Amino acid sequence: MGRIAIFTDDPGWHGKQLRHAFAARGYSAEYVSLTECRIQLQAGLLPLYIPNFENSLPDAVFVRGVPGGSLEEVVLYLDILHALKIMGIPVYNDGHAIERSVDKGMTSFLLQQHHVPTPATWVLRDRQQAIAIAEAELRSGQQLISKPIFGSQGEGIRRIEKMSDLFWLTHSQGVYYLQRFVECAGEGYSDWRVFVVRGKVIAAMRRRGIHWLNNVARGASCEAVQADPKMEEIAIKASNALQMNYAGVDIICSPEDGYQVIEVNSIPAWKGLESVCDIAVADILVDDLLADVVPSVQVVA
Ligand SMILES: Nc1ncnc2c1ncn2[C@@H]1O[C@H](COP(=O)(O)OP(=O)(O)O)[C@@H](O)[C@H]1O
Ligand SMILES: [Mg+2]
Repeated sequence: MGRIAIFTDDPGWHGKQLRHAFAARGYSAEYVSLTECRIQLQAGLLPLYIPNFENSLPDAVFVRGVPGGSLEEVVLYLDILHALKIMGIPVYNDGHAIERSVDKGMTSFLLQQHHVPTPATWVLRDRQQAIAIAEAELRSGQQLISKPIFGSQGEGIRRIEKMSDLFWLTHSQGVYYLQRFVECAGEGYSDWRVFVVRGKVIAAMRRRGIHWLNNVARGASCEAVQADPKMEEIAIKASNALQMNYAGVDIICSPEDGYQVIEVNSIPAWKGLESVCDIAVADILVDDLLADVVPSVQVVA
């Protein structure tokens, strides 16, 4: 029987779905916390210690969560993911894809480099420069969004509408991420979550926020939509720009500039999507990952 590691500190509904999908394909899956893994360069042992895989490394790993922590801790977690890949073990999404997308500054940069439409964005350290950029934007009639570069689920996002809001302009661990606010087309507030697997859109939904934050975790309601060809093209391009096996791409539509990608998630949730679409996301992801698995026997030397 093949054996899979699911990296997560909180398996929950998604972990269960994955475990089920792996089991249906003849693979057992163990939940593992990256905090309990180690590099161990010692004769007679595998170079990586993964709980429950002491004698034989997993056939593949599914990354459902990378814990936060100090820079050193996070580098170690990413090292484990990189090392598994270097040893020929499929890592889904891999450490590089996670690194690029968890860092909103690098995500925005790569989207722009790959000609994926994305709002004007600034990422910087200096407060005076951040204030000057924000003042110039407000003066020219724009509003801004400030985000923590490692944020998710709408956490810590602020809208800057007027000069007096600058008083509250906050950095995240010393770094300012400022993005031009996109007024969305149509009534109320909404954006799209487009789910891409191996360069194909498998489903899309519209998220309507209670306020301007359209995260499901912030109470946004979901509604299935058929992505139009332009939206599909942009979502696929965004996923490719970040070299993802699969991705949850957040797209907002501006009345003037059309679709704009605001975020690419490398560990997207799919509970909201499945509640409105008739698809089995875990099955699709597991099939896609297992297509890259060459069953192998790795034993302690
Ligand atoms: N530039 C923007 N203009 C308008 N709304 C935005 C912008 N950026 C983010 N938002 C709103 O905030 C939500 C969360 O932003 P996002 O960049 O996806 O970060 P998170 O990782 O927290 O989901 C989006 O779904 C959207 O509703
Ligand atoms: Mg988002």
